[in-house]
Amino acid sequence: MVSLPSLMSPSRWLATLLATTSLVSSATAQSPYKIDTDAEIKNTARGMAYDLMLQYKGNQSGEIPGILPGPPTEHKGDYYWWEGGAMMGTYIDYWFLTGDDSYNHVITEGMLHQTGPNQDYMPPNHTASLGNDDQGFWGMSAMLAAENRFPDPPPDQAQWLALAQAVWVTQASPDRHDGTCGGGLRWQVPPTNMGYNYKNTIANACFFDLGARLARYTFNQTYADYAAETFQWLWDVQYIDNKEWKVYDGGHVEKNCTDVNKAQFSYNAALLLHGSAFMYNYTNGSALWKNRVDNLLDGILRDFFSKGAAFELPCEGRQGACTADMLSFKGYVHRWLSTVTKVAPHTSSKILPALRKSAEAAVKQCTGGETGRRCGFYWSEGVYVDPAVDKTSGAGEAMSALAAISSLLIEKTPDLANNHTGTSKGNPLAGTKSRGSVEPLAPITTGDRAGAAILTILLIGAVVSTWGWMSFAD
Ligand SMILES: *[C@@H]1O[C@H](CO)[C@@H](O)[C@H](O)[C@H]1NC(C)=O
Ligand SMILES: *[C@@H]1O[C@H](CO)[C@@H](O)[C@H](O)[C@H]1NC(C)=O
Ligand SMILES: *[C@@H]1O[C@H](CO)[C@@H](O)[C@H](O)[C@H]1NC(C)=O
Ligand SMILES: *[C@@H]1O[C@H](CO)[C@@H](O)[C@H](O)[C@H]1NC(C)=O
Ligand SMILES: *[C@@H]1O[C@H](CO)[C@@H](O)[C@H](O)[C@H]1NC(C)=O
Ligand SMILES: *[C@@H]1O[C@H](CO)[C@@H](O)[C@H](O)[C@H]1NC(C)=O
Ligand SMILES: *[C@@H]1O[C@H](CO)[C@@H](O)[C@H](O)[C@H]1NC(C)=O
Repeated sequence: MVSLPSLMSPSRWLATLLATTSLVSSATAQSPYKIDTDAEIKNTARGMAYDLMLQYKGNQSGEIPGILPGPPTEHKGDYYWWEGGAMMGTYIDYWFLTGDDSYNHVITEGMLHQTGPNQDYMPPNHTASLGNDDQGFWGMSAMLAAENRFPDPPPDQAQWLALAQAVWVTQASPDRHDGTCGGGLRWQVPPTNMGYNYKNTIANACFFDLGARLARYTFNQTYADYAAETFQWLWDVQYIDNKEWKVYDGGHVEKNCTDVNKAQFSYNAALLLHGSAFMYNYTNGSALWKNRVDNLLDGILRDFFSKGAAFELPCEGRQGACTADMLSFKGYVHRWLSTVTKVAPHTSSKILPALRKSAEAAVKQCTGGETGRRCGFYWSEGVYVDPAVDKTSGAGEAMSALAAISSLLIEKTPDLANNHTGTSKGNPLAGTKSRGSVEPLAPITTGDRAGAAILTILLIGAVVSTWGWMSFAD
C-alpha cells in the first residue's frame, strides 16, 4: 500500500494560496465562457482550442511537428512525447464534436511526422523513454481518427487504421510478453530502460483498448481474444480490485507483481471502462462485459466525481503533487466516458449528468491570465489556480478543459465508423517490420543518458515521498 503524503488538506492548501500569493484570481472573477446552448459550447470550445494551440510550437519553422515542448529530461519543456499524441487525439475529437476543421492540417501533419520509420509509432528519437503506454496513446489517436472519419492522409502516406493495427501488432508480438506475473505487458519497451521491470495498468489498458476497438471496427475476433486475455490478467493480478473495482497503478516483476502500487489514477480506470464498452458493443451486449462496464463506471463515479467535478485523486489538493502528465488526465476521462455512452448507450443516464456538472465546474474557473479566460486544473474549488503552481505552462490544464467542454456535444455526433461505414485503409500486416526485436531503435545518445540519470534522481526522490512515481515518464 502506498501512503500519500499528508502535507496539507486541499482546502487548507487553497486557503494558504489565497492568503499568501497572487496565483489565485479574485474569487469574484467571472469566466467569459458560457455553455448553456450548443452554440455557446462551440464558441467556448473554439476559444479553448485556440488557447491550447498557443502551447504547440510544432507547426513553426524549425520545430518538430506532433510534440509539445519537451521532454523535461532534456530541459526542452514540460511535456513528454506521449502527451503530443494525446493532444492530437483531443483535436481529432474536437473536430468530430464541433465541426471546426481549423486545426485538422496541423493535426494530420503531427500524426504523420511521429510515426517513425516503420510506421508504428516507435520513433528513434524517443526510444530512451519509450513505454508501451506512450506508443499506445499515439496508436489510440490513430484509431480515433479512423472511428471519427477524420480526413484520410494522402494515399502515399501511412493510414489511420493501419497505424493503429501496427501499434497493436508490435504490442501483441511475443517479444513484448513474458511469463513473469503470469502475463501482461511491461511498462517500457527496450529492456535497458528504467521501468522495464514494472508491469503497469496503463500500458496494458492501452493494448486492451486498442484491441477492443480494432475488434469492433474490423470484426476480427483475434483482437477481441487478446483484449479479453489482457483484462483477465489485470483482474488476476488485482490491479483491478476484485471487490470494489478500484483500479491501481502496477507492480514489479521481481515481486511477481504482488507489490501493487495502489495509487488510483483516473485515466487507468477510465481507459479500462472505455475498452470494456467497446467489448460490450462488439459482443452484442454480453452479460460479462456489461457487468465490467457497469462496475467500472460505478467505481469511477464514486472515486473521481464525488466532489462535483472530475478530481485527480492521487495528487489533487497537494501543492505541486500533480505532474505535467497527471494534469492532462481529466481530459481523457471526459472524452472516454462520453464515448462510452455511444457504444454502451445504457450508461448515458449515469455518465452525461456527471460530465455536465464537471464541465460546468471546469468553465467556472477559467478566469485566469491576461485574457481572463485561462483554465486551471482545480475544478471542484471553482477558483482559478495558475498552472505555475504545478510548475507547468498549462497545456494539460488547457487540454482537460477543452476535452470536457467539447465532449458536451457527444449526443449530436454520428455513430463511430467500422470497416463498412468508414474510409480508413487498414493493413493487418502493419507493424510486423519491428516484430521480434527492438534492434532497429537508435543507439543511446549522450542526451538520452543524461535524461535517464535525471529520471533516476527524480524517481529516488519520488519513491521517498511515496506517491505514484510510475507515471513520471508516461
Ligand atoms: C500554426 O497553426 C496555427 C493554427 O492553425 C496557425 O494559427 C499558425 O499560423 C500556424 N503557424 C505556422 C507558422 O504555420
Ligand atoms: C528527431 O529529432 C531531431 C533533432 O531534434 C529532429 O530534427 C527530428 O525532426 C526528430 N524526428 C521526429 C520524427 O520527430
Ligand atoms: C505469479 O503471479 C501469477 C499471476 O498472479 C500466478 O499465476 C503465479 O502462480 C505466480 N507465481 C509465483 C511463483 O508465485
Ligand atoms: C471488414 O473486416 C472483415 C473481417 O476482417 C472482412 O471480412 C471484411 O471484408 C471487411 N470489410 C470491408 C468493407 O473491408
Ligand atoms: C453479433 O451479432 C451479429 C448479428 O447477429 C453476428 O453476426 C455477430 O457474430 C455477433 N457478434 C458476436 C461477437 O457474437
Ligand atoms: C453498439 O453501438 C451502436 C452505436 O455505434 C449502438 O447503436 C448499439 O446499441 C450498441 N450495442 C449495444 C449492445 O449497446
Ligand atoms: C485478424 O487479425 C490478426 C492479428 O493481426 C491477423 O493475423 C489476421 O490476418 C486478421 N484476419 C483477417 C481476416 O484480417
